[in-house]
Amino acid sequence: MNWKVPFFDLDLGAEEKQAAMAALDSNWLTAGPRIAEFESAFADAVGEGANAVAVSSATAALHLSMIALGIGKGDEVILPSLTFVACANAVRYVGATPVFADICGELDWNISVSDVAAKITPRTRAVMIVHFAGYPCDIDAFVALANKHNLLLIEDCSHAPLGTWKGRALGTFGDTGCFSFFSNKNMTTGEGGMVISRDPSLVDRLRILRSHGITASTYQRFKGHAYGYDVAELGYNYRLDEIRAAIGLVQLHKLPELNRRRKKIVVRYRALLAEQMPEIRVPFSNGYSESSYHIFPVLLPCDAEQRKEILNSMGERGIQCSMHYRPIHTFSAYEDVTADVPVTECIAGSIVTLPLFPGMTDEQIEYVITSLVDCL
Ligand SMILES: Cc1ncc(COP(=O)(O)O)c(C=O)c1O
Repeated sequence: MNWKVPFFDLDLGAEEKQAAMAALDSNWLTAGPRIAEFESAFADAVGEGANAVAVSSATAALHLSMIALGIGKGDEVILPSLTFVACANAVRYVGATPVFADICGELDWNISVSDVAAKITPRTRAVMIVHFAGYPCDIDAFVALANKHNLLLIEDCSHAPLGTWKGRALGTFGDTGCFSFFSNKNMTTGEGGMVISRDPSLVDRLRILRSHGITASTYQRFKGHAYGYDVAELGYNYRLDEIRAAIGLVQLHKLPELNRRRKKIVVRYRALLAEQMPEIRVPFSNGYSESSYHIFPVLLPCDAEQRKEILNSMGERGIQCSMHYRPIHTFSAYEDVTADVPVTECIAGSIVTLPLFPGMTDEQIEYVITSLVDCL
């Protein structure tokens, strides 16, 4: 399909191509110097003394977080239902039980700290918060809650690279912060992710778990820095490769500018909607901290059936929309989990996500809004 306005578009140029070619020309394709450079640049970008471990996806980052933090069978992890399924899957990978909490309200789709508090039981070990669309959760409240109840805090920052809470980078507040570099994310390596932590021993464990539980990498052995290795525990192959790390380094460098461009588009979208159709409600309007503006979701004044027609009409006009998200507890694989999340259920049928990417033109933004108003 040739979209007039695709849902997202990549911002890749000559620099990424050159970096990828240089990685290929180096003749060393995985777990080498570019990974180390990417990790160190990412750690510098988030600051706060965090260390970064490059992995193959955010899903891998979440899974490794669960293992490294010692979460397992019999434990409960509280998380939103209004998020991508990988969040709950990661909880299940280690045999723990996902417990779904509601969002704050119809116009704040982040997980509610009061609902999380109400769902804490003696089995609760951790809370996984997701900075929805790039907008920070109420970090102060979550850190206080985690401290009070001695809970682990995992930040899913897949939507929020370089987003901040009161000037400090998201991902640096929790025990771990997990990032995605999947194709449609604010910065991409195609597939890829990063897990960060301020706890050096946790970081060591994450590094070992990322590569089969092996204590020395092939590159260290190639460089003559190690001659043998031990397998310390059951690990995985969740490594990133040098080509992706090379692309990631370029994308990371561009990220502040890409996020600024996203913000401008969101500001324009909001102004047009307020002017042309205030009945379409836009969440996260009371910004108190800096978002990374990953996606632009809105609430249509209609039900799920009418939404289907609107999505079809938008498609006929060449505009690709999406939905973030169908709540996890409504999927067949999660039908055994009961979820008391009335606000999530109330809005789920009316959510539509409009196209958003750094290269969007003013004409495209206006076309999306006039078309949406027309369709409604
Ligand atoms: C909130 C959230 N968490 C986790 C993931 C999983 O990311 P990845 O595809 O890198 O595994 C995604 C991806 O879309 C996401 O949006």
